[in-house]
Amino acid sequence: MASPRGTIFLTGANGGLGCGIVSKIISTPELAGHHGIYAVRNASSAAALKSTLRKAPTSHTYDIISLELYKLANVREVVDAINSRVAKGKVPPIRALILNAGYNDLGHESFTEEGFETSFVANYLGHWLLTLKLLQSMDAENGRVVVVSSNSYDVNHPVHNIDGYYKEEKWKVFFREDNIDAIAKGTWSSNKDDLPRKAGTRRYGVAKMCAVMMVLELQRRLDADPALKGISLVTIDPGSMGTGLTRRGSWFIRTILFPMIVPLLAPLLTWLNPNGDVRTVSKSSNDVVEAAFETGPRLRGKYLNGSELQEIVPEALDAKKRAMVWRDSVKYTNLTEQDTPLINWK
Ligand SMILES: NC(=O)c1ccc[n+]([C@@H]2O[C@H](COP(=O)([O-])OP(=O)(O)OC[C@H]3O[C@@H](n4cnc5c(N)ncnc54)[C@H](OP(=O)(O)O)[C@@H]3O)[C@@H](O)[C@H]2O)c1
Repeated sequence: MASPRGTIFLTGANGGLGCGIVSKIISTPELAGHHGIYAVRNASSAAALKSTLRKAPTSHTYDIISLELYKLANVREVVDAINSRVAKGKVPPIRALILNAGYNDLGHESFTEEGFETSFVANYLGHWLLTLKLLQSMDAENGRVVVVSSNSYDVNHPVHNIDGYYKEEKWKVFFREDNIDAIAKGTWSSNKDDLPRKAGTRRYGVAKMCAVMMVLELQRRLDADPALKGISLVTIDPGSMGTGLTRRGSWFIRTILFPMIVPLLAPLLTWLNPNGDVRTVSKSSNDVVEAAFETGPRLRGKYLNGSELQEIVPEALDAKKRAMVWRDSVKYTNLTEQDTPLINWK
């Protein structure tokens, strides 16, 4: 069997979009020639992923690994094991790192063992640590990190007018302090402030904002790093899809709207407006995979709405705020020089 061309590392591989991405990989011969590292919460179950992989060609090599993004110690263990395998040549360097796992709690607020708000860690901080540590195993010439984000990061997006998540003046700006402790610890937009679905959507939104800021800030640092400047990041909003993301929502959201109405309407709505608010999982999976494998400078540090480039909102472009989010991320994860090959890591 030919050696794989490179590695594709995908988080949230057992979820709706994750399985769609895997389907796309295994049904495209040039992509199936890569080694897949498919990260799920529990590798011994992951039924949806395993069922998807039954259709893989025999030439497709892969590992299914367990990863709990909200346990930072687990992120460290998992990455150390992958880095060691890449260093020993057991798997090829990572050509595409797809940060797809996502968590949206529209009901109960929850916290990690280290006291962080779960949404913040699952959508952002765990992925930030994973990426910084995995840089040493990335393909230094063409490595691409794809961050799956959401229009929830944009307080002015018209879709939020329906439920008024960001209607009050105090929610129109995410970062008002000189640190992000309230966001990281969940005292910002806690369930005491509002209806859980609104407070939870904002916590999800700010975590996605941090993820978009990571794309800009890490790209800036990579561009100035002689050994890593070939690596690029791009972020992509996949649109609303009928997946499991909203399973912690109200009865209507979790049993009717997302499992039934959205999948029913998505093919027609995607056909009418391919990058509109509602999309099929298949269209968004194609968009993510194309973003991961397009070479050249077009997508470096950019934001894709599906398959079209979109302006990044001004708060994410604020260099001072981005530096603050970065600084606090270093602090929360206890990142050290030994963790990452990035020269400007502090
Ligand atoms: N669906 C939408 O309408 C929509 C809209 C905009 C953006 N997105 C983004 O699209 C991406 C894919 O989500 P999806 O729609 O496919 O939802 P999904 O079906 O719920 O998949 C998300 C996956 O992330 C995993 N995950 C969550 N928390 C994790 C953690 N702490 N550690 C490791 N894995 C974790 C989940 O594992 P478990 O199943 O084991 O919890 C699940 O497999 C997410 O980044 C989401 O924010 C989705």
